[in-house]
Amino acid sequence: MKNDVKEILFSEEKIKEKVEELGKRISKDYSGKDIIVIGVLKGANIFLSDLIRKIDMSVTVDFIDVSSYGHSTESSGVVKINKDLDFSIEDRDILIVEDIIDSGLTLKYLLENLKSRKPKSIGICTLLDKPERRKVNIDVNYIGFKIPDEFIVGYGIDYAEKYRNLPYIASLKPEVYSK
Ligand code: IMP
Ligand code: MG
Repeated sequence: MKNDVKEILFSEEKIKEKVEELGKRISKDYSGKDIIVIGVLKGANIFLSDLIRKIDMSVTVDFIDVSSYGHSTESSGVVKINKDLDFSIEDRDILIVEDIIDSGLTLKYLLENLKSRKPKSIGICTLLDKPERRKVNIDVNYIGFKIPDEFIVGYGIDYAEKYRNLPYIASLKPEVYSK
């Protein structure tokens, strides 16, 4: 698995520092509120697990599973809810936690869907952002790292369901995609 890595973009240490910084900002901004943190499965799972431990206030955690990718590296634009939220978000402050915003199509769909359930507020926190690839405009409140247009894996993020368990964020060798 590690042989497939081309370059490590963010080390475990770098990610840890960033997650702490985001947790502090979120704790400050939402101080006194009781938020629902919504992880977008599966990619945001590891990020969310680390992030909530750096949020110093009461939170409820929920997950939603949407898919738009299949096994290719391009967003299909077709979004399907595989697992919906367990809780009602009506009149609640919610914070969506994403792994990567790429074209933005997945999140746009998700936002429209969640808005229709009438939450009090919606915040968005993403670990990674690929601004060059954006096809729709989305206001993102918290961004870990901006990255160039390159396909990455690790720290929960996959290629064809693999590499999620790499502890760092890395790019893959081109030959991996032609296997
Ligand atoms: P979007 O709809 O194009 O914004 O894509 C959103 C989702 O595609 C992300 O939440 C990821 O799950 C996945 N994705 C986008 N870029 C990458 C990447 O570089 N590596 C792995 N998954 C990615
Ligand atoms: Mg995702």
